[in-house]
Amino acid sequence: MAKASPQFTCTECGAVHSKWSGRCDACGAWNSIVEEAPLGAGPKGALPKGRMIQLSSLQAQEAPPPRTLSGMDELDRVLGGGLVEASAILVGGDPGIGKSTLLLQAVAAFARKGLRTLYISGEEAAAQVRMRALRLGLGDASVQLGAETSLRDILTTLDADRPDLVIIDSIQTMWLDTVASAPGSVAQLRAAAHELVTLAKRRGISVILVGHVTKEGQIAGPRVVEHMVDCVLYFEGERGHQFRILRAVKNRFGPADEIGVFEMTGAGLAEVSNPSALFLSERGQPAPGSVVFAGIEGTRPMLTEIQALVAPSPLSNPRRTTVGLDGGRLSTILAVLEARCGIPFAGLDVFLNVAGGMRVSEPAADLAVAAALLSAREDIALPADTVVFGEISLSGALRPVSQSENRLKEAAKLGFTSAMLPKGGKTGPGIGVTLREMQDLTGFVGDVFGAG
Ligand code: TYD
Ligand code: MG
Repeated sequence: MAKASPQFTCTECGAVHSKWSGRCDACGAWNSIVEEAPLGAGPKGALPKGRMIQLSSLQAQEAPPPRTLSGMDELDRVLGGGLVEASAILVGGDPGIGKSTLLLQAVAAFARKGLRTLYISGEEAAAQVRMRALRLGLGDASVQLGAETSLRDILTTLDADRPDLVIIDSIQTMWLDTVASAPGSVAQLRAAAHELVTLAKRRGISVILVGHVTKEGQIAGPRVVEHMVDCVLYFEGERGHQFRILRAVKNRFGPADEIGVFEMTGAGLAEVSNPSALFLSERGQPAPGSVVFAGIEGTRPMLTEIQALVAPSPLSNPRRTTVGLDGGRLSTILAVLEARCGIPFAGLDVFLNVAGGMRVSEPAADLAVAAALLSAREDIALPADTVVFGEISLSGALRPVSQSENRLKEAAKLGFTSAMLPKGGKTGPGIGVTLREMQDLTGFVGDVFGAG
């Protein structure tokens, strides 16, 4: 039989190539392709017969999976209502963002709820983890600690010990002696995650894997691990800010897009149960370029401040800088303002960011972005008691967005008395907020800034 030909895998994106090259065609990364052992060639001749799979109908009665609440509301909500038994969860994030801190607090919370828990660190010594636990006031929680990177030993321990929940911090440090590549390589990652997830399902153990994110924002060797697990959570935030956001990007047991908000304090992560109030707390007097956007994150309304700065540019190619918002979306809105409303931004540098280190990806933020840009350009502050939301279409028309009523309720709760929004949204009965509904962007510009 022909020898199986070698296989080349990109360590950045996991794409498989038939030959080595300096640059990965799939993701464009340089020097990321490594040779890997091919998959087993399989037996000669016809496949030996397997056994029949047991099939069942869709109508079979299935009890919802048993869940455990940690008591950390922000975490429980992101998990879709608590930790599901025998589930596999991947928590990704930049190094130093606070993943180990979050999971140490979470594992202690679950231990207090009666789960048998195990925390395995491949990055820190047990003494280091213990010291951190003491500092976080978790010294009394019955969490078993282990400092180990050999997956064979970890699997043996799990098989014998059968905890309810195990944390593996991080999956990139784990290695299996059956795989020839170095720890952190795609091959090791795939094998390690596969072994852990399989064991979890077979033995009814919940596994939380910590994964570091590369600078491109993907969990290193991402696809390989992401599809194996039930939940993918990202822990994100700006380094300079104390806010941290836990975001569900995949959840087989609950809604994706759900977020939990935390604040990094001297004594670990504190939950933020009213993020709108917190995100707006830094707001001072109404200033040009500052607009409050009434957004929805997952199932929860959330108010954030969008800030814009527009200044004459010395560059032939003016700057367009965004933090917490999509750069492409900014370009689109600038183009619509220019083409449909005749407001040029050529020769002007534009800076846009979301206050507090929050990230906004909803199209409903369009109108708030446009309002911030115009307010900065015209140097006119919007009234301080006004929230803005709505989607802008390329024609310049304003499109109503989902859950208008919830957005308005949240605004009312925080003391806002007026809202600018597209015409035609479902706003429900009066809720104490004066509505200024508009049909298109030109109308909005005329209405708010008195010029077309
Ligand atoms: P860590 O959980 O080690 O990050 P990761 O596991 O994602 O790499 O968190 C590291 C940062 O958190 C570190 O820079 C210090 C900060 N921190 C606090 O501000 N307060 C605390 O109580 C703790 C434990 C950490
Ligand atoms: Mg860590």
